[in-house]
Amino acid sequence: MDGNGRWAKKRLLPRKFGHREGVKTIDRIADCVFERGIKYLTLFAFSTENWKRPADEVSGLLSLFAGYLRRKVPKMVKNGVVLRVIGSARGLDEKTRKLIDDAYEKTKNGTRGVLTVCFDYGGRADIVAAVNKCVESGTLVSEETFPGFLQTAGLPDPDIVVRTGGEKRISNFLLYQMAYSELYFSDTLWPDLTEKDLDGILSVYARTDRRFGGVDEDDNI
Ligand code: FPP
Repeated sequence: MDGNGRWAKKRLLPRKFGHREGVKTIDRIADCVFERGIKYLTLFAFSTENWKRPADEVSGLLSLFAGYLRRKVPKMVKNGVVLRVIGSARGLDEKTRKLIDDAYEKTKNGTRGVLTVCFDYGGRADIVAAVNKCVESGTLVSEETFPGFLQTAGLPDPDIVVRTGGEKRISNFLLYQMAYSELYFSDTLWPDLTEKDLDGILSVYARTDRRFGGVDEDDNI
């Protein structure tokens, strides 16, 4: 969800206004995603590197996140959407940790879809922690069993990873999980992303020929 800061800068506003607008986009896009029958949406909200930002921006993001958890749970329960948070809870206060646990407890029986928020998440940290869990358990892992040690255990690998805001990099997102994901880089700033943009992305995806390293059946002659 890149581009909140630039959205605000373009309007000569402090960056926090961009983040606030970004939360509105989360609402809009998440609704559209689940309406279209997509079962899993995973948002990269705060990376393990985002702690390097100025303290007032970090505390603004933490309170937007807590506010989101406080406000959105009833709607998710109603809509059957499970709200799961992955990442580290180390930098979060007790209240936010409880909001995360409560959100999952209240929504966990939803059957319409799963919204996963990655907060204080890093792909490398996820892999390292998973490897340590394997070592501790003394199990040799395979490509089939290793994902069960990652924080995304139980979620399918992403079919498509979308980055808004014009940068073409992965920035330590789901490094193991996205080995075969389609990548879509959009110049649109996250707060400007619309339902129409989402449909455009989905129609590009629908036309994609995913071969997972193989060949198409009609090329197999
Ligand atoms: C990217 O824009 C956005 C972020 C780093 C933060 C997004 C997180 C929130 C809005 C917190 C709330 C989260 C939830 C799930 C409600 P940027 O600041 O990197 O933009 P720029 O590249 O234009 O500076």
